[in-house]
Amino acid sequence: MTGKTCLVTGANSGIGKETAIGLARMGARVLLVCRNQKKGEDARADIERETGSSRLDLLIADMSSFGSVRALAAQVRQRYSRLDVLINNAGAAVPSRTLSADGIEMTVAGNYLGAALLTFLLLDLLKSSAPSRIVNVSSAAPLYPPAAVNSAYGTSKAALNQMTRHLAAELEGTGVTANVMHPGSLKTEMWADMKRRIADAGAGGEGHADWIDMVERTGGDSTDRAIELVLELLGEEGAETNGRFCWPAGIVEEPLPSW
Ligand SMILES: NC(=O)c1ccc[n+]([C@@H]2O[C@H](COP(=O)([O-])OP(=O)(O)OC[C@H]3O[C@@H](n4cnc5c(N)ncnc54)[C@H](OP(=O)(O)O)[C@@H]3O)[C@@H](O)[C@H]2O)c1
Repeated sequence: MTGKTCLVTGANSGIGKETAIGLARMGARVLLVCRNQKKGEDARADIERETGSSRLDLLIADMSSFGSVRALAAQVRQRYSRLDVLINNAGAAVPSRTLSADGIEMTVAGNYLGAALLTFLLLDLLKSSAPSRIVNVSSAAPLYPPAAVNSAYGTSKAALNQMTRHLAAELEGTGVTANVMHPGSLKTEMWADMKRRIADAGAGGEGHADWIDMVERTGGDSTDRAIELVLELLGEEGAETNGRFCWPAGIVEEPLPSW
C-alpha cells in the first residue's frame, strides 16, 4: 500500500481504528476521519505509536451533517491529488430517536446519507486514481425480519447495501470497485448502545435480545477477521470483487435476496 492514500471514516475506535492500523502498517497514507477532535488526536497518537507511521492525517467531520460532509470532501479534494481507498465505516445505533442537524433521523443520516454523499463527492478523485476501492462497512441487520427496535439501523444499512450494489454496476469498467462488508457481531464501542436500545424496547426487542445474549455469552466475533476481510477487499481479491456483500465467513457470490 506504499504510495496509496486511504480514507477511513470513524477511525478513532473499533473496526475503523484497527483498519487504519492495518493500512498504516502496510505503508499507506491514512486519512483518519473522526467527529471529535480529542478522540481523533488520541487515536492518531495511538496508531502512530503502534505502527511507527508518520503518514497519518486527522480530518474532522460529522458524517450525519451534509455541511460537514461537504466540507470534508472539499478538504480532501484540495489537499490530496489522489484517493485510492475510501472506507465508509463510521456508524452508530443511536439509542433513542434523535434528529440530525439537517432534521433527518440520526442513525440514517450518519450511517447512510453521509456515506453516500461523501462517496459521490469523491467519485471523480477515486476514478482518476484507479485502480481504487470503496468498502462500505455495513451489517447483516437488514437480513433479519423487520422490528421497531432495529428499524432505523436496519434501514440505514439496507440503503447502504443497495447504494453500493447499484454504484458497483455504474462503476464497471472504471477500475473502481465498491463492496459492502458485514464485520460479524463485535463487542466494540457501539455494543453498549445496541444493548441499551434492545433492552429499552422490552417485548419489542425479544428476537434481538437472544442475539445480545449469544454475543455476551460467546464474546462475539473476532475483530481481526473483520479487518482481514477489509484488507482482502483492498488486495488482489478486491480487484475481481465488485458489488458484493461480504462477511468474514467468505465473499458471498451473489447478492443476497433481501439486500
Ligand atoms: N460491532 C458490531 O457488531 C457491528 C456489526 C455490524 C456492523 N457494524 C458496523 O461497523 C462499523 C464500525 O462500528 P464499530 O463496531 O467499530 O463501532 P465503534 O467502535 O462504536 O466505532 C464507530 C465509529 O464511528 C464513528 N461515528 C459514529 N457516528 C459518526 C458520525 N456521525 N460522524 C463521524 N463519525 C461517527 C464513531 O465516532 P465516536 O467515537 O465519536 O462515536 C466511531 O469512531 C459501523 O458502521 C457499524 O454499524 C458493527
